[in-house]
Amino acid sequence: MIKGEQLYEGKAKKVFATENEDLCIVDYKDDATAFNGEKKGSIAGKGVVNNRMSNLLFAYLAKQGVENHFVEELSDRETLVKKVSIVPLEVIIRNTAAGSFSKRFGVEEGTKLKNPTLEYCLKDDALGDPMINDSQILAIESATQEELDTISVYAYKVNEVLIAFFKEIGIELIDFKIEFGRYHGRVILADEISPDTCRLWDIATRQKLDKDRFRRDLGGVEEAYAEVFKRLKL
Ligand code: TMP
Repeated sequence: MIKGEQLYEGKAKKVFATENEDLCIVDYKDDATAFNGEKKGSIAGKGVVNNRMSNLLFAYLAKQGVENHFVEELSDRETLVKKVSIVPLEVIIRNTAAGSFSKRFGVEEGTKLKNPTLEYCLKDDALGDPMINDSQILAIESATQEELDTISVYAYKVNEVLIAFFKEIGIELIDFKIEFGRYHGRVILADEISPDTCRLWDIATRQKLDKDRFRRDLGGVEEAYAEVFKRLKL
């Protein structure tokens, strides 16, 4: 597969064209940002962890019936994926209160929620990714009702599959953010699933093994990514 022109550069990944117009190559960087790009840094080895972990999880989710963009891992940092048009929504599922949920609703971080919650944010850096509800999404035509139905079914399914998956390696899935893309008239899971996009706590110690270590200056950032990598036996 030939790596063609760069189509896009995001905060954590670059996307390149290939000779097949249905496929592209994502290249994971070590760059890290937080708070809508206000905080900038680099996490050594993060690109490798996020690439290989996402691929492992996407391959597993495909087997569990969650169609997604993963095609083939090309190298430590590069992966061939289906070329989708990203639905401009960040889809967040939470099992335990943390982060903005704790802040917004005054629920102490670490409180187990009675049921998993689903929330949407509009993917728009200029607006700071504001929270948005179903009727607002339909009103501004960010997605159709049919697409939202697919997205919510997939999101809860991803949660079920990943809770069990992480439990096996001693990790509690606190919450995560996923994104979807349009591909030949269907909506499929896309983007990445990594310590950048999930809150992952050690079950025994409740130690944070995710990007909150970078966001909150907790130290041990590289070590946390390496620990998740090790537990996944990658
Ligand atoms: P939040 O509590 O800050 O809203 O974050 C919820 C989840 O979404 C958490 O697992 C981190 C992830 N997330 C992203 O992947 N990208 C983002 O830009 C933000 C703010 C959160």
